[in-house]
Amino acid sequence: MTVIYCLNKFTDVLIIGSGIAGLRASLEASKYSDNIVILSKLPVMLSHSVSAAGGINSVSIPDDSIKSYFEDTIKGSDYLADQDAVSTLVNHANSEIDYLEKIGVDFDKSDKEYSPNKLGGAKFSRALNSSSQIGLSIMQGLYDEVKKNNIQILENWHVLDLLVDNNRCYGLIALNKDNYKIEKFLSHLVIIATGPAGHIYSDTTNSTNCTGDGVAIAYRAGALLKDMEFVQFHPTSLLGSNILITERSRSVGAYLLNKNGERFMSKYAPSSLELAPRDIVSRSIINEINENLGLNDPDYGDYVELSFTHLENSLIDEKLSDVKELASSLLNIDIKKTPLKVIPAQHYMMGGIKINVDCETSISHLYAAGECSCPSVHGANRLGGNSLIECLVFGKIAGSQIKNHSKIHDIDSLNIEFNISDYSNIMDNVDSDYINIISSKLQSLMTSNVGIIRTKKLLEQSLQDLYILKKQALSHPIDNSDNSKSSGHSYFELLNMLDVAETIISSSIIREESRGSHFRLDFPSRNDKDWLNHVIIQLSNSNVISSFESVIINNIVPDSRSY
Ligand code: FUM
Repeated sequence: MTVIYCLNKFTDVLIIGSGIAGLRASLEASKYSDNIVILSKLPVMLSHSVSAAGGINSVSIPDDSIKSYFEDTIKGSDYLADQDAVSTLVNHANSEIDYLEKIGVDFDKSDKEYSPNKLGGAKFSRALNSSSQIGLSIMQGLYDEVKKNNIQILENWHVLDLLVDNNRCYGLIALNKDNYKIEKFLSHLVIIATGPAGHIYSDTTNSTNCTGDGVAIAYRAGALLKDMEFVQFHPTSLLGSNILITERSRSVGAYLLNKNGERFMSKYAPSSLELAPRDIVSRSIINEINENLGLNDPDYGDYVELSFTHLENSLIDEKLSDVKELASSLLNIDIKKTPLKVIPAQHYMMGGIKINVDCETSISHLYAAGECSCPSVHGANRLGGNSLIECLVFGKIAGSQIKNHSKIHDIDSLNIEFNISDYSNIMDNVDSDYINIISSKLQSLMTSNVGIIRTKKLLEQSLQDLYILKKQALSHPIDNSDNSKSSGHSYFELLNMLDVAETIISSSIIREESRGSHFRLDFPSRNDKDWLNHVIIQLSNSNVISSFESVIINNIVPDSRSY
């Protein structure tokens, strides 16, 4: 029998997730409180943020400007980003870079000047790096600072659900993955910073831990979700493994080639070529393949080539040593001689828990930041380098919110009901093989039917298939072996993945136009007349309900989008 503890742990700020957004939030909150706890599903340095390699955007070269950064981000979003949120992002980016330098993060420089890279959709070089390990460097800097500030981190805790009453969040319940105990945590403020959900796709650059937990617990608690139909596919993942080949490759000059050795991007984005935004490059690759212009690998299927063979050795060594090393160690390939086989793969969720520029969700005392949230800075397509800076800018804002709340312990005595047996029965009975079977079916379904090219028919069929999977997951077979407990958190992750998938498919059915990453074969054009709106999704009495919200346009009027 699983042991259940209800210790009523009480904090001022409880942060779920220890990636860049969560750590940044904790550091800002620590200016106002010494009672902050971070709950992390994994050891901190296994956070997905660590893997980021492309860069972090700011304005750091003389020709660039905040205005230009703003314009690129809006156009990159296919004009769906809320312009107040983008203003917040671009106006705070440089101060976050200063903050990182202050805490010891070293950015690449040449003659003491920043040496940023120009990523897709950017008019200027903006993406700073740190020895090709930007995510790791930022995480190390923030983590050291968190330790210096004695902020408490509880690792290996899987959050099961939020405690919400009368549309106010009072805390959460979480499973300790080390001893299978379930505990209740009460807090004035809860900040969700749980990162990506890419593991709902079979072909993803995300790690297996990216199961959309934060989005799912917020959704089940009744929070509004926004823009869930917008799923980013990165153009260049390695065929077979979907390991990310960073956009820095194309920034430095790598070409995409079809089976005839043609730089096919000249047909789709004549000015920007391989440095068009990701939605356009990914769709172009799929188009080449559909026109029978891709190449084929007998084991892994269709692909196009990413070629470095024309680049100087010195350039590869200076800017792409990580890609060279990866190809050599993993595939025994010298990229100077042999192109890489690449294919688009799920990489990022533009949608998430709806937040405003103060990181408030639709539930009182519940905040969110980072990839699980949607302040709507990316709209229908995110530009490379804008994810890490979003985590910092909005992580800081979320952490600062405690200053606006009185810390009177008015919820100490509160007795919020939740049914522990709902969770403990599962913990005692779950069958790990069954979880794996349903996860795989979900991942195949999402990759085949809710990918780069979508149709009403496939989406509607997918929703029906998803409901069947949900039913099967909820009536899981019983396994009385001792192994069952250790699979408990995987089962909860599966339920989260199913919930997130439901919101993506539902929103994708609703949006009857093509914009950014959402391409509908049955509605192939952008339709500003009817669709300059966000699709908002909410769970209400077990039903998915939807509404619309106008895009905030206070500066740039939507225009055609060519590169
Ligand atoms: O291509 C990349 O390295 C990814 C960068 C990003 O997602 O911003």
